[in-house]
Amino acid sequence: MCGIVGYIGNKDAYPVLIKGLQRLEYRGYDSAGVALINGEGKLNVYKKKGKVSELVSASKNEDLSGSVGIGHTRWATHGEPNDVNSHPHYSDTKDLVMIHNGIIENYASIKERLKKRGHKFLSQTDTEVLVHLIEDIQQHEGMKLGHAVIAALKQVIGAYAIVVMDKKDPSTLIAAKKGSPMVIGIGNNDDFYIASDASPIVEYTKNVVYLEDEQVAIIRRGLELKIRNLKDKEITPYVQELTIELEAIEKGGYDHFMLKEIYEQPRSVKDSMRGRLIAEEGKVVLGGIVDHEVKFKNAKRIIFIACGTSWHAGLVGEYLFEEFARIPVEVEYASEFRYRNPIIYQDDIVIAISQSGETADTLAAIELAKSKGATIIGVCNVVGSSIPRASHGGSYTHAGPEIGVASTKAFTAQVTVLTLMALHVARLKGTMAESRFRQLLYEMEAIPGKIEEVLKQNPEIKKIAAKYKDSKNALYLGRGVSFPVALEGALKLKEISYIHAEGYPAAEMKHGPIALIDEEMPVFVIATKGANYEKVVSNIQEVKARKGKIIAVVTAGDHDVKEMADHVIEIPETDENLVPLISVIPLQLLSYHIAVMRGCNVDQPRNLAKSVTVE
Ligand code: G6P
Repeated sequence: MCGIVGYIGNKDAYPVLIKGLQRLEYRGYDSAGVALINGEGKLNVYKKKGKVSELVSASKNEDLSGSVGIGHTRWATHGEPNDVNSHPHYSDTKDLVMIHNGIIENYASIKERLKKRGHKFLSQTDTEVLVHLIEDIQQHEGMKLGHAVIAALKQVIGAYAIVVMDKKDPSTLIAAKKGSPMVIGIGNNDDFYIASDASPIVEYTKNVVYLEDEQVAIIRRGLELKIRNLKDKEITPYVQELTIELEAIEKGGYDHFMLKEIYEQPRSVKDSMRGRLIAEEGKVVLGGIVDHEVKFKNAKRIIFIACGTSWHAGLVGEYLFEEFARIPVEVEYASEFRYRNPIIYQDDIVIAISQSGETADTLAAIELAKSKGATIIGVCNVVGSSIPRASHGGSYTHAGPEIGVASTKAFTAQVTVLTLMALHVARLKGTMAESRFRQLLYEMEAIPGKIEEVLKQNPEIKKIAAKYKDSKNALYLGRGVSFPVALEGALKLKEISYIHAEGYPAAEMKHGPIALIDEEMPVFVIATKGANYEKVVSNIQEVKARKGKIIAVVTAGDHDVKEMADHVIEIPETDENLVPLISVIPLQLLSYHIAVMRGCNVDQPRNLAKSVTVE
């Protein structure tokens, strides 16, 4: 969490920093701040609780000049979100300023030690302790800033992506990372850009260096980028070309990123399958798991690890792998798995699912499973992120940048890739008849068009949303592979509209949630045709008998549910195992409209962040 940016070059730093922070706001928006050194060598720091726009208003009459600067958007961990705890933080003499994404776990003991040496701290943050430590080392050991940063980081336990700026040396920025992401852009005009991800950089340059863990970059204006590791060994920077385009990270005429991303799904699902699904030849090609096919064939068990929406995709994966490939599956919250001393066998396959590829709990769970000899397969969206790098193999989801904090297109892309994987493994193991395999490939190919059909119903879905926008609670029900979709529908609603919502397997309703049902309670039910249809119809009747309101997602042409439900949303027919890819779309749209009607900030819901790099 937290977004960091830095600029050093020959143009004004402030607009670059502000634009960059706005692009990174999905990483946290509790407070924002910038530090700039102006032409006379004066260091100016402006920071403000709240969003970047509040920082902009608060500092509009200040001196915003300077061609070197750093900026930060915060998701609070240590210390409440207020102006004082905002980044950048000063060192003791106020000569150094620093921004930080991550957590310094041993900050309390370092703080005590520094206090005894006379350091005075203004904030409650772990970050301020680190910048004081750097200066303390600089002063007492007579080191240059780069070396002092290395020496300080050797004492630190935790995760960090930091940028340090020194008032006495406005020609240099020092950046370092461990566990939190950092990209350095090499500009076309002898300038450098630093950011948590490539989105603030892409409009200026496509040449970037992804800093590795325990590397420190010493960036000098117009001159050079030097990288050292914590052993003080010089490393040659590996310059890569960015593949993302600017329009992929802009709203493109939509009111919100979330809506844009919902509408992108016909394309993003297609992109997830591109080159991998060759229906005419009856083939699934997944280059990233080719080396692990024998492992998949012999696996006694697959464990999915993930958090949030990605965990829901894992639950869909469980149904598919068990149904298609007949391999037992467990789906684990990464945060629980990592602390549970789990039983892991060497022939286990662990599939880690993550949009960002940076989620701290998922990464830690991977390391644990790896240390016990399991094969790790990553299913991630952000190319080059930490989870794919920590995995033995895997498949990118290729959904393109997802900016809205509430995940939409990443979910359908994850489910797409997991479906292809399950089909491919079924083929390897011989657990599925050729004819059924081929039929499912054709069904998969038709999914983007069917999503398109659902999106056309947006005006009707919006009308339904208007009826339930003032609800206090909501229940989501589904059975079989639609149960995870019910969970995902409930998560979408609660995270962006702040309406309390729960997802349940429809039959479990009678063991508790049924007590909540009255005429005020909307119950969203996935009641598409399939093996469980009749059972879900009975569950709907149970809700109706208690005067609950039914909003049902049904297969086109359905009669029975239509007669019982208050509202129905028809989705095109597909194989029942593939329904999640289509049935989740109306639930995403319903949540979106409800949140907008309630005046909520759908792209940046309160207290959440898109990339959770703290545990
Ligand atoms: C956060 C995001 C969710 C996401 C979850 C897991 O909570 O707000 O949208 O599902 O993290 O993130 P990952 O990047 O690992 O999929």
